[in-house]
Amino acid sequence: MADVEDGAAGTADAPGVGDASGADGADAEARRTVMRLVFGTMAAQTLGAAARLGVVDALGGEERGVEALAAECAVQPRALVRLLRAMAGLELVEEVRAGVFRATPTGRVLSADHPGSFKTIATVFTDPLMVRSWERLADSVRTGEPAFDQVFGKGFFEHLEERPELSAAFNASMSEGTRTTAAVLPGAYDFARFHTVVDVGGGDGTLLAAVLRAHPALRGVVHDTPRGLAQAPATMERAGVASRCSVVTGDFFASVPAGGDLYLLKSVLHDWDDDRAATLLGNCRQVLPPDGRVLLVEPVLPPLARPGEAGWYLSDLNMLVNLGGLERTRADFEALLARAGFRLSSLAQLPAPSAFSLIEAAPAAG
Ligand SMILES: C[S@@+](CC[C@H](N)C(=O)[O-])C[C@H]1O[C@@H](n2cnc3c(N)ncnc32)[C@H](O)[C@@H]1O
Repeated sequence: MADVEDGAAGTADAPGVGDASGADGADAEARRTVMRLVFGTMAAQTLGAAARLGVVDALGGEERGVEALAAECAVQPRALVRLLRAMAGLELVEEVRAGVFRATPTGRVLSADHPGSFKTIATVFTDPLMVRSWERLADSVRTGEPAFDQVFGKGFFEHLEERPELSAAFNASMSEGTRTTAAVLPGAYDFARFHTVVDVGGGDGTLLAAVLRAHPALRGVVHDTPRGLAQAPATMERAGVASRCSVVTGDFFASVPAGGDLYLLKSVLHDWDDDRAATLLGNCRQVLPPDGRVLLVEPVLPPLARPGEAGWYLSDLNMLVNLGGLERTRADFEALLARAGFRLSSLAQLPAPSAFSLIEAAPAAG
């Protein structure tokens, strides 16, 4: 272990890390980069543990000593100080004096009361639910099939249907990840020309609630599985839009609710391979009036990979191992939409802080 840890700490001449004959500075830098990436899984688990234990919630905005923190988080003080020092190395907390810590602005994002909290994302995306299939990424690359089904004996969403607590956590993590898009989408598209928006695979309703709040004449339907929708009525109540929104359970591979003139799908198509995604879009096409539209909120990959922008490519691999889905380029979306009887009518990047694109599809002529 020693040489691995030395390498991670950036010691160029550590045994087994920087001692290869002829290794120059650039080579040492490359080795440090690789070692940092290898340690990435441990960094992610450090965040996950901090979120699960409520370490940043316990810190609040204060400087706090490790003994008091350990009592509040019900953990062993000597182990907690080790976690906190790893968190300090990751710039989530600062050690202001020996054994006394304060959360950084980055670390505060792991607290439940932060307005843009990613606490549940940190918990769910480091949970065995998400992580175990990654251990078999090489298998998925060999076969092109999701590892999840092998590991858990069933598909991702079937597994969640049987696990209410995990499903609620997953829905909450989706909601956390959707909030930045919910803040900008209502002003970024002309919703006013429609009367009923159906949010297909709408989960806990975070996105549709924001659209309905901003457009008081609009009605909405949020459609998902029973587990997917478990929190949706409460979201609609909280947003004050429940009287304009129906919550409809179903299987979008069988059908989607009729009666809408705009069908909204955020982070849904990327869960599925082209055959499944075309079936789902075909079901939207069946019930769509001639002047209706489908609105996809998805990342759009550039045609060539860009260095230093791993995020969506890692998401693409996450779709592969956990669901058998994929992230798509514009050309991929055009081909997929054509299969389901649509044409891509517009594509635009959503304003920051959303990292998603907005793809509008209209029924294809003929
Ligand atoms: C990645 S989540 C996206 C949730 C939400 N649109 C968002 O962006 O926050 C995918 C959603 O599809 C739902 N889903 C999966 N399979 C489904 C099915 N067969 N029928 C209806 N909904 C399904 C899941 O329950 C989940 O809420």
